[in-house]
Amino acid sequence: MTAQYQVHGDVAVITLNNPPVNGLGLSTRLGITDGVAKANADAAVKAIVVTGAGGAFSGGADIKEFGSPKALQEPNLISVIGVLENSAKPIVAAIHTVAMGGGLELALGCHYRIAAPGASIALPEVKLGLIPGAGGTQRLPRVLGVEPALNMIVSGEPIKSEMLAMLPGQKLFDKMAASTASLAEEALAFARSVADVRPMPVVRNMPCKHPQGDAYFQFARNMVKGMSKNFPAPAKCVDAVEAATKNKFDAGMAVEREIFINLMLTPESKSLRHLFLSERAASKIPDVPSDTPQRDIKSVAIIGAGTMGGGIAMNFLNAGIPVKMLEMKQEALDRGVATIRKNYEAQVTKKKLKQDKYEQRMSLLTTTLSYDDLTGTDMVIEAVFEEIGVKETVFKELDRVMKPGAILASNTSTLDVNKIASFTNRPQDVVGLHFFSPANVMKLLEVVRGEKTAKDVMATVMAVAKKIKKTAVVSGVCDGFIGNRMIEQYGRQGGFLLDEGCTPAQVDKAMEKFGMAMGPFRMGDLAGNDIGWAIRKRRYSEKPHMKYSKTADLLCEKGRFGQKTGAGWYDYVPGKRDAIPNAEVVAMIEAHRKAIGITPRKISDEEIVQRLVFSLVNEAAHILEEGIANKASDIDIVYIFGYGFPAHRGGPMNYADQVGLFNVVQAMNRFAQNPLDDAKFWQPAPLLAKLVAEGKTFN
Ligand code: NAI
Repeated sequence: MTAQYQVHGDVAVITLNNPPVNGLGLSTRLGITDGVAKANADAAVKAIVVTGAGGAFSGGADIKEFGSPKALQEPNLISVIGVLENSAKPIVAAIHTVAMGGGLELALGCHYRIAAPGASIALPEVKLGLIPGAGGTQRLPRVLGVEPALNMIVSGEPIKSEMLAMLPGQKLFDKMAASTASLAEEALAFARSVADVRPMPVVRNMPCKHPQGDAYFQFARNMVKGMSKNFPAPAKCVDAVEAATKNKFDAGMAVEREIFINLMLTPESKSLRHLFLSERAASKIPDVPSDTPQRDIKSVAIIGAGTMGGGIAMNFLNAGIPVKMLEMKQEALDRGVATIRKNYEAQVTKKKLKQDKYEQRMSLLTTTLSYDDLTGTDMVIEAVFEEIGVKETVFKELDRVMKPGAILASNTSTLDVNKIASFTNRPQDVVGLHFFSPANVMKLLEVVRGEKTAKDVMATVMAVAKKIKKTAVVSGVCDGFIGNRMIEQYGRQGGFLLDEGCTPAQVDKAMEKFGMAMGPFRMGDLAGNDIGWAIRKRRYSEKPHMKYSKTADLLCEKGRFGQKTGAGWYDYVPGKRDAIPNAEVVAMIEAHRKAIGITPRKISDEEIVQRLVFSLVNEAAHILEEGIANKASDIDIVYIFGYGFPAHRGGPMNYADQVGLFNVVQAMNRFAQNPLDDAKFWQPAPLLAKLVAEGKTFN
């Protein structure tokens, strides 16, 4: 059992012990009910303490049981809480470090709660598209007050125990311990002090009222409307807490249960739970076991202090890792450092960063013009111009100066990492680290595994990614890696839609309604339309059979590169990001249609969404089949964290699974009939066809 039972004189202590966060899996739940039974049967025991071993009281449900029947097997959490509440001897929860979700609900089933300062307290279920399901919505308002409790339940955000203890009239904590270290002793003393008090306080019996109930809940509903646009759960949190104020406890519990079960079945919650598990799974590489030794990374060098180099440097400075930046000219270094300063200063002005932290970070940054200064660094990341000749010069220099065992990484977005590795005599130490712009903001990192990249290099860079707070996904070597290879197909479909009758604004609006942070044309304007232009020019000679709309080229010929030139698919006012539709661009598209003899047709939002999203899905199926991505869920993570794909859809692969792969293929077959589209592209990828034939899904 993953909970221990010990008797200290006249107090029994039940210690949850299910690392890493004492998740409330079946064996832990059994440990708790067993302990309570033992303590009640032992005449020498007068009170019981429940606490957690290691770094948590309890983080709630055991994610290993997610979606398995074990999660519901008796005693389920609601039954365990019933056992606590019905104990004839008082139970004290001794809370430290983390009490979240089911962990907090468990504590609310105890008669008393003593907390150490610094503990993170939360009911985060809303982040998985759910509400708390073991009485949290009914008990927390009773001890904390309706408004603070609803705020916690709707936001899901953790609050420190000492902050909650300061709320007037709160009954969540009966006592604050002096520290985590003294909690165990203080809990024993507290348990003894209440051992003989009768009747024992039981949260379910406490009153739950709001003096201006109807007005308050109306107000709360209006407040959550904005944040819950694509998510049903926040509004349901309001319903559940309102039920606590309007019903007897058991009737309120029934309302909570019904809402919880209904939310479990929503595609939004399924998507969020899929992402929660996928993010954790992304760091696991099938043939690189978690005990693979790692190299020590205590310092980093960055080659190139441009857009990406500066952003990448900030990630390491933020994590307290010293950075040395190298450029060819002093002016370039000065410019790079000035940009980093400017970014930090903006954070200081917005009060997002303290002055002393800013200075501390800048003190970790040094610069050099000489490769010989890099000998001592443990890892280097190259972010120079995207030209293979320049990369060759840089990697030959790195091979000359870097110490044995140093990791040599390239931030290339399109070049062949195997070729870059071959410029050195140590291809096993070379890896791609593809950051996304702005590199200090975007969470996604594609880790590009070369043919010869060593396993310990992979293990090390995945750990480094975690340290700098990136979500890393492994990609094999191919043109565009996972994310950009797929986006090329998406962009191509966007072009065909213009040819066939859409305006850029119509396409963007449909995609934004679907939930994308930005439609394809606004995204092009942000990234720079010249980048796609350069790629297409290469494709025209490499892959002359590939079909493209000419509209994007015509746009670039006008110098409309996007936000950076103040004009792209849209117009932009300096200092603002609003995309203002431009009549000339629309006329340009119309003239082009006429020139190639197309009569425009009305295209539905549904067709726009399907063509764009399914183009991602079909390319992704090829990527999976080729082994470029290890698993479908990795692709979902790339699109959620790197491309603004809506979280409530769970990523393109999850979305395709939810639509049903059979239906996805049916749509592709329809698109293939469209003479203006690319019939060859719409041939379902063999993996996709196979999954449909076998009635399976991607995830
Ligand atoms: P950039 O032009 O802003 O910066 C490149 C910097 O490298 C310049 O400051 C230049 O002086 C310096 N440099 C050039 N040759 C050098 C050499 N031999 N030694 C030392 N320094 C040298 O370019 P950006 O956008 O930062 O791109 C850098 C790399 O990052 C490229 O490989 C690009 O494909 C990749 N990348 C760019 C993204 C973007 O959105 N800009 C996104 C992801 C990757």
